[in-house]
Amino acid sequence: MEASAGTVTVTVPTYPVEFAMSVGVDPDPWQISVLASDHPRKILCCGRQTGKSTVGAVLAVHKALTRPGSTVLVVAPGERQAKLLFSKARRLYEQAGHPLPAHSHRRTGLELANGSIVEALPAVERTTRGYSVDLLIVDEAAAVANMDYHGILPALIATQGEQVLLSTPRGKRGFFHEIWHDDVANWQRVMVRSDEVGRIRPEDLEVFRSTMPEQFFRQEFYCEWLETEGSLFSYDDIQAALVAGEDVAAIEIGEDEW
Ligand SMILES: Nc1ncnc2c1ncn2[C@@H]1O[C@H](COP(=O)(O)OP(=O)(O)OP(=O)(O)O)[C@@H](O)[C@H]1O
Ligand SMILES: [Mg+2]
Repeated sequence: MEASAGTVTVTVPTYPVEFAMSVGVDPDPWQISVLASDHPRKILCCGRQTGKSTVGAVLAVHKALTRPGSTVLVVAPGERQAKLLFSKARRLYEQAGHPLPAHSHRRTGLELANGSIVEALPAVERTTRGYSVDLLIVDEAAAVANMDYHGILPALIATQGEQVLLSTPRGKRGFFHEIWHDDVANWQRVMVRSDEVGRIRPEDLEVFRSTMPEQFFRQEFYCEWLETEGSLFSYDDIQAALVAGEDVAAIEIGEDEW
């Protein structure tokens, strides 16, 4: 598919795996299974540093470039995480041959020449109202409160929009846990542990294991669902820590944050 970047016309591969490679991401096998699927609801339960935000960013930019006029909404529990995923998406967009003017580097939305937009927001119900969304990406979904997730869903109704939920588990509660364990087969489920990813060295994982409580290690890297009753880290504490001090105003992105 051809997309205009100013006066230059750039060809964007329609197959997302090919697109990823064209922008310098050589996808892992599990990332290929996500990129190659056109399932409208994907839930990815992944260990730390497996590359979930990267695959989310590829999906976001690919959708915006290949479906003119689409709206891609990227949300995360707090502003910082939304900003991180957005900066990955912005970088991929540039890698795809669409240089951005300097002023747009300070924004958290991309407005493309084809009428598509990519917007990054903290998953706070009052900030995500009013959108009609073709693709919703929820990063760190297990740390997003149910009411904030449910508050976004109406934005998908008119468009029959797709959703991608990405997260490391955070206890046996909340919509991410429920959807993952729901028997209804209308979600594509992909799980990847950190020790299944070739670029994560076993010796590095052992260092982490020795420096944190075993349960927490197993949650973060082996995708285990901790009991919320009596657990070391309560869902609410994690949620509070993630959003502490964060504002919901427009996000400022610096050049050193990719
Ligand atoms: N297919 C890939 N090939 C090479 N490097 C990759 C690939 N996917 C991700 N990475 C790199 O691995 C690191 C972690 O990626 P990313 O931030 O997407 O993971 P994550 O699962 O979201 O991590 P976290 O758990 O910290 O949120 C980054 O440096 C990223 O550039
Ligand atoms: Mg991430």
